Amino acid sequence: MITRTEITKVLQNPPLDSEVTVMGWVRAYRGRRFIALFDGSTSQTLQIVVDFENFPEELINSIKFHSCISVTGTVVKSQGAGQDVEVVAKSLEILGENNLDEYPLQAKKQTVEFLREHAHLRTRTATFSAVFRIRHAVAYAVHKYFNDRGYYYYHTPIITGSDAEGAGEMFRVSTLDPADTPMTEDQQVDYNQDFFGKPTNLTVSGQLQAEIGALALGKVYTFGPTFRAENSNTTRHLSEFWMIEPEVAFFDLDNDMDLAEDFVKYLITYVLDHFAGDLELLDKRIQDAEKNLPQAQRRPMGLIEMLRFVVDNEFERITYTEAIELLRRSKPFKKGKFEFEPHWGADLQAEHERFLVEKHFKKPVIVRDYPKDIKAFYMRMNDDDKTVAAMDVLFPYIGEVIGGSQREERQSVLLERMKEMDIPEEELWWYLDLRRFGGAPHAGFGLGFGRMVQFITGMTNIRDVIPFPRAPRLAEF
Ligand code: 4AD
Ligand code: MG
Repeated sequence: MITRTEITKVLQNPPLDSEVTVMGWVRAYRGRRFIALFDGSTSQTLQIVVDFENFPEELINSIKFHSCISVTGTVVKSQGAGQDVEVVAKSLEILGENNLDEYPLQAKKQTVEFLREHAHLRTRTATFSAVFRIRHAVAYAVHKYFNDRGYYYYHTPIITGSDAEGAGEMFRVSTLDPADTPMTEDQQVDYNQDFFGKPTNLTVSGQLQAEIGALALGKVYTFGPTFRAENSNTTRHLSEFWMIEPEVAFFDLDNDMDLAEDFVKYLITYVLDHFAGDLELLDKRIQDAEKNLPQAQRRPMGLIEMLRFVVDNEFERITYTEAIELLRRSKPFKKGKFEFEPHWGADLQAEHERFLVEKHFKKPVIVRDYPKDIKAFYMRMNDDDKTVAAMDVLFPYIGEVIGGSQREERQSVLLERMKEMDIPEEELWWYLDLRRFGGAPHAGFGLGFGRMVQFITGMTNIRDVIPFPRAPRLAEF
């Protein structure tokens, strides 16, 4: 059996003058006398003092960046600045293979793009280990938030026969032989012979099934992987991303917006309260990176300052119509600075969202009541017959983190919308049944988990907040 003490335990509650065995990887070594060791249990490293005269030369020389070592030694108060305690090594051993001369990573700063190509190694860097600890923290906080408030975690399927968002950008799931696809008499693919006997795909959203949960359990949420085959090579899109979708009976759009705001503030607060060390490290990383940029290109606030600001201030709430009016009165519009013209009926582009959030209101904004023609079929029609009870939560740097709506619970209105949008009734018979039999007003939203983690960590690319990103032409590891 292996016995070791985790570095976080040594640092938090130092067993002074007693002996510990710690195991981990070398982040830095100085003057062949000091080793900074990490083991993932905390953002901090533990300083190991190696009196190299007491160790074989060969062993000392073989210690390299990211060598994996085991050290047994005494915990003492540190003589130097920068740490309270350190471990004076009595014995030191290299664990595993140590062929680090060919190691692709180096102690000096390497770009996130380079590290992305070495995703199997990047978790060892200070930045990425902080990001993935925070990713865990946010996931835990999601479950805690809902559990503490009486919501049930409801598992919706990953393989489905429906296209919930009506976007049609789905990954097919099939066991048919692509080289010898069975065809029907009228030259269509014979899905009858496919595994499920019908066309199926990876889910783009668990919402439609979550509605089933809400109309029986009252308050549910999903939290799982979601797939979109859109060819979006942006810093905010993945082909495989995680989404959280609460769905609540007896909720309207106002309830929905209140829940969204309270929920994201809770997630941020949880990380501020429990993972401050990791946040400080990421905050400093951004400051270092922006040091040489002109003022105008720097973020207006530090990372932690920004997180506190979002938690402490009420989100701005405006209608889509107000947003368009505001954009058309704006300086960038009048000076022709927008690439896309903001006009009623068109979707808000990233540049418009960023203007509203970063320049105009300077805080998160919830935009509601979008034109029906740019939104999904299931959103509840407003009395004006032109807009639907939809809402998007927009964040600085990220844009849309949440998309949600009150759902159309009136069977006849829903049927009409489905006809308008060419959505076949037969496929969604069960969804329609929910309206026919004991229907209820209800609402919900989807939070993009990666985008939330992006905001909290300050990482600029969503591919750097998930261990193994999936995007167009990217499925390594
Ligand atoms: O706005 P979306 O498409 O909404 C839905 O799927 C609804 N069914 C949600 C609901 O009402 N239950 O997606 C929700 C959120 C977006 O706001 C965004 O944060 C994230 O999911 N998202 C993505 N994140 C990463 N990569 C992508 N390709 C994403 N597409 C959406
Ligand atoms: Mg959306």
